[in-house]
Amino acid sequence: MTGVNFILGILSLLFLHAKCQLPPTVYQYYTEGGINSGLEALPGQFRLNGKDITLYSGSIHYFRVVPEYWRDRLRRMRAAGLNAIDTYVPWNLHEPRKGEFDFGAGNNEFSKVLNLREFLQIAQEEDLLVILRPGPYICSEWEFGGLPSWLLRYPDIKVRTSDLVFTGHVKTYFDQLLAQVVDLQFTKGGSIIAVQIENEYGSFGNFDEIKDREYLAFIRDNYVENGIEELLLTCDSPALVGDTGSLPGYLMTANFDNNPEAQFDRLLELQPDKPLMAMEFWAGWFDYWFGTHTGGLNPENFSKHLSTIFSYNASVNFYMFHGGSTFGFMNGANKIPVFPSYLSDVSSYDYGAPLSEAGDYTEKYNVTKELIALDNEVQTFTPEQPPLNPKIAYPAVQIQEYLTYVQLINQIPLDLVTEIQTVTNMEALDINNGNGQSYGLTVYRKKLDLAPTAELQIVGHIRDVAMVLVDGEQKTQKPQGSGALLGFGFWTISNSTFTIEGAAAGLNTLDVVVENWGRVNFGGPAYFEQQKGLFEGPILVDGVELSDLTAIPLELKSNWIQGLTGWQAFEADRNLTGPVMLRATFELAEPLQDTFLDMSAWGRGSVFVNGFHVGRFFHVGPQITNYIPAPLFKQGLNEIVIFEHYLAAELLVFSDVPILRG
Ligand SMILES: *[C@@H]1O[C@H](CO)[C@@H](O)[C@H](O)[C@H]1NC(C)=O
Ligand SMILES: *[C@@H]1O[C@H](CO)[C@@H](O)[C@H](O)[C@H]1NC(C)=O
Ligand SMILES: *[C@@H]1O[C@H](CO)[C@@H](O)[C@H](O)[C@H]1NC(C)=O
Ligand SMILES: *[C@@H]1O[C@H](CO)[C@@H](O)[C@H](O)[C@H]1NC(C)=O
Ligand SMILES: *[C@@H]1O[C@H](CO)[C@@H](O)[C@H](O)[C@H]1NC(C)=O
Repeated sequence: MTGVNFILGILSLLFLHAKCQLPPTVYQYYTEGGINSGLEALPGQFRLNGKDITLYSGSIHYFRVVPEYWRDRLRRMRAAGLNAIDTYVPWNLHEPRKGEFDFGAGNNEFSKVLNLREFLQIAQEEDLLVILRPGPYICSEWEFGGLPSWLLRYPDIKVRTSDLVFTGHVKTYFDQLLAQVVDLQFTKGGSIIAVQIENEYGSFGNFDEIKDREYLAFIRDNYVENGIEELLLTCDSPALVGDTGSLPGYLMTANFDNNPEAQFDRLLELQPDKPLMAMEFWAGWFDYWFGTHTGGLNPENFSKHLSTIFSYNASVNFYMFHGGSTFGFMNGANKIPVFPSYLSDVSSYDYGAPLSEAGDYTEKYNVTKELIALDNEVQTFTPEQPPLNPKIAYPAVQIQEYLTYVQLINQIPLDLVTEIQTVTNMEALDINNGNGQSYGLTVYRKKLDLAPTAELQIVGHIRDVAMVLVDGEQKTQKPQGSGALLGFGFWTISNSTFTIEGAAAGLNTLDVVVENWGRVNFGGPAYFEQQKGLFEGPILVDGVELSDLTAIPLELKSNWIQGLTGWQAFEADRNLTGPVMLRATFELAEPLQDTFLDMSAWGRGSVFVNGFHVGRFFHVGPQITNYIPAPLFKQGLNEIVIFEHYLAAELLVFSDVPILRG
């Protein structure tokens, strides 16, 4: 949507109002006669500024959508009949280094998507109220549930508890964050009608134990001290955890996909004098590597459960209504009690949501719109559904240039390269001004004389996936399917071994390159001990423990990618093995359109579009395409850089449809 279109839209909207006596907008209706009160939770009913309201809300994360599309997506949501949205706030992006905050004006790779104020203002302009969920823990299939990795530098930290080290950092952050939004509360003329305290705290540990309520009270106090006056609430699955994650006196809400009856009946027992709300009606579900794309509830069950929700006169927030994409290395993961014990989430956050990753309408969108229209007793002006953003399969582009692994390592700034006595987790590396390495890959390097056949062992587990290189040459194979999880290189095996063949005579450079596949975002306290890299035990070669290593971080930050030099001409049919950086530049003319990069011919790695890290790819799927929204392109020369771990393909192939394997 261009600025001009937007202004025309507003003008025509005003004109229509004047001409045909259309119903009022949500804001006109709920602020008529001035704002005297915010959202109230009365017995059986919410009220906003003295008027009954049922919340029809949908989750959208500003940090998962390019800002040029915020208005477009929000308007599609409003056009479905929603009167509200919800967003989480990711601490790890807003405070990427201890004490350094970024609300859109930083010089970080994701600064572009971090202007929370602007997002909240656009939501209001698009006639949507806002439920804000700052966490600080946000689950959300997001790296470490949104917690910054530098917290892990405190060896004894107990995150999500009233541990003073943790709460000290939460306070520093919340003081900054809440100052950004305090004047955007509904009672101050803004969009925020409610703020959530923590997130599914009842699921943090045993389901039947009452959790650390001092910590919840600390968050509440922090909100209040920072001027938050709107309704505060918690969310959990009450049929599973009861009120163990709640703060007495504050509204409890329910999270679920199936069986709304069980959740709401339990909630009514626990809280008979409050209105019902599904804070997260799981409209779909996320995907993980080696899995299949399911999309969660099918449209029939989605429809059935939504009808049940409405039959309880409940309010609802669809999680997600529009998932978008998990950019960069920001995906989370889950621990599971069975093999392979850890599941890393893909970069697409399509979620099977009513609006797809690319903002397209789905059957669930239609169902939502229909059922809200039936349930809603307050007539407000609903905009027309915006037309689809066209998708295009651009002609394939030949890879033109590359940088070898050795060239890449040589361009890592020396102040990031450290000598370590033995294996050390990435967070503990003495780099980045005391913040360690947060994301990406870490190279553990040792110069030694390798025998022609040498036995490598890594004691303990690899966090999460390792490649072995000798003198810059890849020795590990591209993983083929889930069988790979039984072999060397994956987190699954303790004390795994690998036979290195064919090392040249003389001194060799042995590199164990370990990729962080994303920190777990859900589970009990033990699941929040999440160091990455190698640290559980030493590396042995032919039974001898290696010491005095060099640690080289491959953080793959945008600024670094864009500053790379020494590109060599790429020759076709050469079978260039990774790790390798590849580049293609190509001209695009207006109109720029959305597209998908089909990575099925590639192995494992990351995609950068004009320097922006759109996400990871992995040929086993289920995510085969990376969505590229048009605003990441520009008229004229464009550049796509691929970091490939195993074997370079020769073409960038585009698609006009997503491929998520079911
Ligand atoms: C739909 O609901 C039925 C009954 O609750 C259940 O048996 C079925 O597995 C559900 N299907 C999906 C795709 O969720
Ligand atoms: C829902 O609200 C309607 C209208 O106010 C009322 O007639 C009905 O009894 C309510 N249903 C429940 C389950 O509370
Ligand atoms: C949604 O409804 C519209 C209008 O009735 C229809 O054209 C479209 O095909 C439907 N979409 C899906 C995915 O069912
Ligand atoms: C891994 O090796 C270490 C050190 O040699 C040993 O203590 C541990 O028991 C081994 N673990 C397994 C699962 O074999
Ligand atoms: C590249 O790999 C393909 C498939 O394995 C093989 O057919 C081809 O001969 C290789 N080319 C070179 C130059 O090694």
